[in-house]
Amino acid sequence: MSNFETIIYEKLDDIGYVTLNRPHALNAYNLKMRDELYQVLDAIKDDAEVKVAIFRGAGERAFCAGADLTEFLTAPSPIIARQVRWERDVWGLFLSIAKPLIAALHGYVLGDGIEIALCCDIRLASEDVQFGLPEPGLGIIPAAGGSQTLPRVIGGAKALEILLSGRWIKAEEAHRLKLVNRVVSRNELLPEAERLARKIADFDPVAVSYAKQAITRGLDLSLEQGLELEAKLARFVIPLH
Ligand code: COA
Repeated sequence: MSNFETIIYEKLDDIGYVTLNRPHALNAYNLKMRDELYQVLDAIKDDAEVKVAIFRGAGERAFCAGADLTEFLTAPSPIIARQVRWERDVWGLFLSIAKPLIAALHGYVLGDGIEIALCCDIRLASEDVQFGLPEPGLGIIPAAGGSQTLPRVIGGAKALEILLSGRWIKAEEAHRLKLVNRVVSRNELLPEAERLARKIADFDPVAVSYAKQAITRGLDLSLEQGLELEAKLARFVIPLH
């Protein structure tokens, strides 16, 4: 188990567990968490012992209540921010991981919280989940990939409506919108994520990784290019006759 200040990272039977761990602040995403998340993602990406990872939030009330508002106006100048982003592109790293990532979501899932969830491949939620994108109300826009990942998951019109209206989404609607794959009771959230992770971890990791890539990379391609990608990936996993 690696104990950072804002994240708990554990490995158990091929599964990596990433727990956002600032429950006193509803797991708000601060600069420290950004740096620590980068290290954890790097470890998940490279560690052959981790075949699948589960992301969750500590405490009873939230997966993550978005960016830490106490750091809100302490951001560095745009030039420094761009340099930091270049050196430490958390969201690019997140989306480059070829292993399945599962988000187990409960309580508040706001701003960066949704964006972390959208970097995962499968989203499970408990009945008490509430999604929201408060950014425009704060005079900013999502900058952790959400303006691109959300419409790819729920479509442009719905993404715009949710972002521009500031309306929060509860479990049933999130499921209807396909923002989450499944809604379960609070007690079942982690066990359900673990059952799924276990199933995935028992499959051949190369086949799993290629299947993920065929779908996630294919979504950004034309059908023709997507079929080429599939053929290329399949060659590595289909035994030659
Ligand atoms: N950044 C920093 N601290 C946060 C936070 C955030 N985004 N969200 C919650 N907290 C802290 C609160 O300051 C409070 O700390 P305190 O106990 O030291 O006063 C604690 O978490 C509990 O939050 P609280 O506001 O008391 O709970 P609530 O049930 O009344 O409200 C929310 C819950 C989520 C509606 C409310 O906390 C909220 O609106 N948070 C900000 C959401 C946001 O705009 N995020 C930024 C997105 S870009």
